[in-house]
Amino acid sequence: MDRRTIGIALGGVTGRMGYRQHLVRSLLAIREAGGLPLRDGSRLWPELALVGRSEAKLREIAERHGLTDWSTDLTATLARPDIQIYFDAQVTSQREKALRMAIDAGKHIYTEKPIAEDLAAAVDLARLADGAGLKHGVVQDKLFLPGLRKLDRLVKGGFFGRILSIRGEFGYWVFEGDWQPAQRPSWNYRAADGGGIVVDMFPHWHYVLEQIFGRVNAVTAHVTTHVPTRWDENGDAYEATADDAAYGIFQLEGGVGPPINSSRAVPGCPHELLEVPGAGTEGSAVAGLRNCRIQHRATTPKPVWNPDLPVTEDFRSQWQVVPDNEEFDNGFKAQWELFLRHVVEDEPYTWDLWAGARGVQLAELGLQSAREGRRIEVPEL
Ligand SMILES: NC(=O)c1ccc[n+]([C@@H]2O[C@H](COP(=O)([O-])OP(=O)(O)OC[C@H]3O[C@@H](n4cnc5c(N)ncnc54)[C@H](O)[C@@H]3O)[C@@H](O)[C@H]2O)c1
Repeated sequence: MDRRTIGIALGGVTGRMGYRQHLVRSLLAIREAGGLPLRDGSRLWPELALVGRSEAKLREIAERHGLTDWSTDLTATLARPDIQIYFDAQVTSQREKALRMAIDAGKHIYTEKPIAEDLAAAVDLARLADGAGLKHGVVQDKLFLPGLRKLDRLVKGGFFGRILSIRGEFGYWVFEGDWQPAQRPSWNYRAADGGGIVVDMFPHWHYVLEQIFGRVNAVTAHVTTHVPTRWDENGDAYEATADDAAYGIFQLEGGVGPPINSSRAVPGCPHELLEVPGAGTEGSAVAGLRNCRIQHRATTPKPVWNPDLPVTEDFRSQWQVVPDNEEFDNGFKAQWELFLRHVVEDEPYTWDLWAGARGVQLAELGLQSAREGRRIEVPEL
């Protein structure tokens, strides 16, 4: 079988997302499958060049996976003609600089979100990449969660009738780091290092809402820091200067205004780390990470409000499970495959830097709303 190669430089590959989701679960998984099948019958083989700061860490990762191409020199890596794509999963604060370098070097861009720390930079990156005639994409992995894919299917299939309400509950507990290690890096909790749950999660909510339900027209947010002191990777105490919880209302075209809570300061384990309930004139649904349950109005039991009596019906068990009907691959890998097809076969791809910029815009306006205590309209970019 014919094999074509594509050179991809990977920045931030020693980090949580860069290593686990993008290198191991996506690009190495594509190689393990023999490459990505293309329309002409050939296979696309990603040749990977790891770039980063620590020679020792890069060498260790490369050796662990039988890779030989790694460097601590981003400029030299980007100057190589065999590299066609630059991917970035570094800490957010380092992203803009690296993406600018990659665009200057004429490389297609694929990047983690948020694409930049502020809207002006995000828009500038999108303009520069367009101006240079480059292909570009941003990670929007939540769209590929099986639960949200099923929710999207319900919307597109007309299950809800007229949608009345949507909500989002994203919450779990990130340990402080003293009596149990924290499960997220400490920079997430320092504003000066690009941390904060609004800049982290509002870009996700933006593309989920925009792509499944419609344009986000306005935002109102209450933003706070629930846990003021945390302990970093070295066990040293630090002040959490970034927000760790955001309670937002996102007004959509058509009038629905989903409240979405985002917090990593919720002790206990909820049913799902992310739950999205939706209600329409015809029925209701609750989507989680993998599953989605529905109840049509015709199968809705007659509710009677009476707290004096115990509830005799097990309401939860009466909901119907939405079937898979397809195989769900790792979402990061699925999106990598779409992006690679976009680059080599010119397949359409809507999740570009402009979509990434709209996510940054929503985060910026969400923070402004919290600061000023008011609802903020979201202008078209
Ligand atoms: N799509 C998602 O669901 C998702 C989830 C988590 C994080 N992210 C995004 O991925 C990016 C990386 O997050 P992570 O959780 O993997 O972080 P991480 O701290 O685990 O990894 C950060 C990477 O950046 C590198 N880096 C470069 N310059 C650095 C500097 N000056 N200081 C510290 N590290 C530096 C590190 O070496 C490492 O490779 C962030 O932009 C974050 O917003 C996306």
